[in-house]
Amino acid sequence: MWLNGKCALVTGSSRGIGRGIALKLAEHGARVAITYVENEAAAWDSLAQVRGHGSDGFVVRVDVSRPDDIGRMLGAVRDEFGRLDILVSNARGELPTFYQPPLELTPERWDCALNTQARAFLSMVQQATDLLPDGGRIVALTYAPGGRLGSWQPWVAMDSAKAALESLCRYFAVALASRSITVNAVSPGFTDGSVLNSLPEAAQSLIKARHEGGWTPAGRLGTPADIGNVVALLCSEQASWVTGQVITADGGGSLMEPGLPLELQRG
Ligand SMILES: NC(=O)c1ccc[n+]([C@@H]2O[C@H](COP(=O)([O-])OP(=O)(O)OC[C@H]3O[C@@H](n4cnc5c(N)ncnc54)[C@H](OP(=O)(O)O)[C@@H]3O)[C@@H](O)[C@H]2O)c1
Repeated sequence: MWLNGKCALVTGSSRGIGRGIALKLAEHGARVAITYVENEAAAWDSLAQVRGHGSDGFVVRVDVSRPDDIGRMLGAVRDEFGRLDILVSNARGELPTFYQPPLELTPERWDCALNTQARAFLSMVQQATDLLPDGGRIVALTYAPGGRLGSWQPWVAMDSAKAALESLCRYFAVALASRSITVNAVSPGFTDGSVLNSLPEAAQSLIKARHEGGWTPAGRLGTPADIGNVVALLCSEQASWVTGQVITADGGGSLMEPGLPLELQRG
């Protein structure tokens, strides 16, 4: 129970990876503020599961693309917890708000991606610093390959937003280091029980088969609990010397060479 007595906020914790993170933090003793934007019932279900781990928390609605909403959310944290030891920026806008290939990408979709990621994170950290005690933890969820690759064309806005988010992590890490507040990003590989399950069946099956068939050396997709474990580790006292890093959590998938057939890899 290394997070006993800590207070956490996980944006987008009504489902998917955010819920997995909230539950792991609760399992280790933290109280957790659960956020949602549309699915209130799912958020209450997350809170019920937090309580099932013997912890507690509360539910608050936030649209992270709206700085005033972020202020209101942090106001609720101040009222309920009086402090915030762990801030996890996990929420991501829905596919239709940003999914468009580069040659057709509208300024509106570009803005939606940036506003729910980099600008939301900028706003959240700026407004949360007085709630965070020395030794606090900030974690952002990213997708690191997106910042390097150009293959999944309609993902261009989100990948650009994630690249900007990772850059902000490094700048905030330096800005907050004198207060022993760490700022890191976690980059999951493809994760079951997340946005993946909202893709067309055919796409889901192809992705699952590829990872189970060897692209992920561990032979399976990740789970929200896998990612929750990594975030909980970064929030431990023992992780105090890790800051400004992008931590990949993908069962080894990023170690594979895309230019080589799988049959020639993995011995
Ligand atoms: N899934 C993966 O394989 C994968 C891989 C790499 C990185 N990631 C990252 O991990 C994070 C979580 O992904 P996920 O797939 O678990 O997400 P998800 O299942 O699609 O859930 C999205 C969450 O964000 C909330 N949300 C949506 N729009 C919002 C907004 N404008 N303001 C505030 N909250 C909003 C949703 O709330 P409602 O339930 O109320 O709609 C929900 O809780 C994201 O940052 C994503 O980029 C995911």
